[in-house]
Amino acid sequence: MSETRRGTIAVTGASGFIGTHLTRALRDAGWTVRALVRSTSELDRLRARGYEVALADVRDRPSLAAGLAGCLAAIHLVAIIRESGSATYESVNRQGTANVAAAAKTAGVDRLVHLSALGAGPSSTRYLASRWAGEEEVRRSGIRHVIFRPSFIMGPGGGAAQQFAAVVRYGPWYPFQLMAGGGRLFGSLAALTPVIPVLGSGRTRFMPVDRGDVFDAVLQSLERADVLGETFEIGGPDVVTYDQIMDAVARVLRLRRGKIHLPPAPAGMFVRLFKLLPNPPITLDEFETLLIDNVCDNTKVVRTFRLRLRPFVESLHEALRGD
Ligand SMILES: NC(=O)c1ccc[n+]([C@@H]2O[C@H](COP(=O)([O-])OP(=O)(O)OC[C@H]3O[C@@H](n4cnc5c(N)ncnc54)[C@H](OP(=O)(O)O)[C@@H]3O)[C@@H](O)[C@H]2O)c1
Repeated sequence: MSETRRGTIAVTGASGFIGTHLTRALRDAGWTVRALVRSTSELDRLRARGYEVALADVRDRPSLAAGLAGCLAAIHLVAIIRESGSATYESVNRQGTANVAAAAKTAGVDRLVHLSALGAGPSSTRYLASRWAGEEEVRRSGIRHVIFRPSFIMGPGGGAAQQFAAVVRYGPWYPFQLMAGGGRLFGSLAALTPVIPVLGSGRTRFMPVDRGDVFDAVLQSLERADVLGETFEIGGPDVVTYDQIMDAVARVLRLRRGKIHLPPAPAGMFVRLFKLLPNPPITLDEFETLLIDNVCDNTKVVRTFRLRLRPFVESLHEALRGD
């Protein structure tokens, strides 16, 4: 810990992939962290790790009011990319974000740092449009805020890198591996059929960014006055196509894999069929998002936060270490 800072930072979505890493980074930076989660098992787990905890569902304003009371700032990490029952883009990504912003303002929280997604825009895919709607709720709420729109965030233990690794490892057997819920059989079958089915041309471009670079900017934005009201797009320093990502992951995992490309129309048919599976490898919303270039101009975020962005391959190695 570098120094002890005064003030408590509330983190919504603290049990998720980013939340797990970010709560640790905040604590290492000397902040007191209040983890907002919605299950009692997560509450107990995080309390045991020494965090302040509160039960809060972003669709439930009173729980948020209690969870945010007394906090200096809040970092909002809750969003869904897969809808399920009443957990829709509208109820979680837009209304849930509006609820967090309103509750934070009422509680007297100084600022809200909101993690949105690169590509958020009013006329993009349903998912990205819902992220735009969430951003708009933050801007309209009147709370002091900073918004980040990251590309894929790379880090150990989850997120995009782990998903890419599973696609590379299991190839055409990936949906079956998910259905079986584990086991070695499909890994062995994949070794006999060493190809990766790529949905679409494989030429969609991305800028995967290291978690450390995102956290550097997020942590600075808790204390700096000059970034209030700003929206920052943030990607890594390398622009890579989906094919290049697959090849890089295969190299890191030391697997020899070819690629088979499925044009968007038949690929879309497969994705629609996946809907029948209890745990589909990809949804139609995720598929649509994968077909759109996800790149940005990093100049503003790099200059403002003096970032030295970590190269993609270095970040990938760390994210998959131990895999
Ligand atoms: N990971 C990336 O590469 C990436 C890239 C760009 C932007 N982002 C953004 O960063 C944020 C965090 O991403 P992530 O990868 O950490 O996502 P994640 O692993 O899916 O975590 C999402 C978190 O939200 C919680 N949550 C979902 N619905 C909730 C609700 N109704 N009320 C309260 N909590 C709820 C989940 O809790 P449960 O554990 O109870 O389900 C989980 O803790 C998201 O806004 C995401 O879009 C992530």
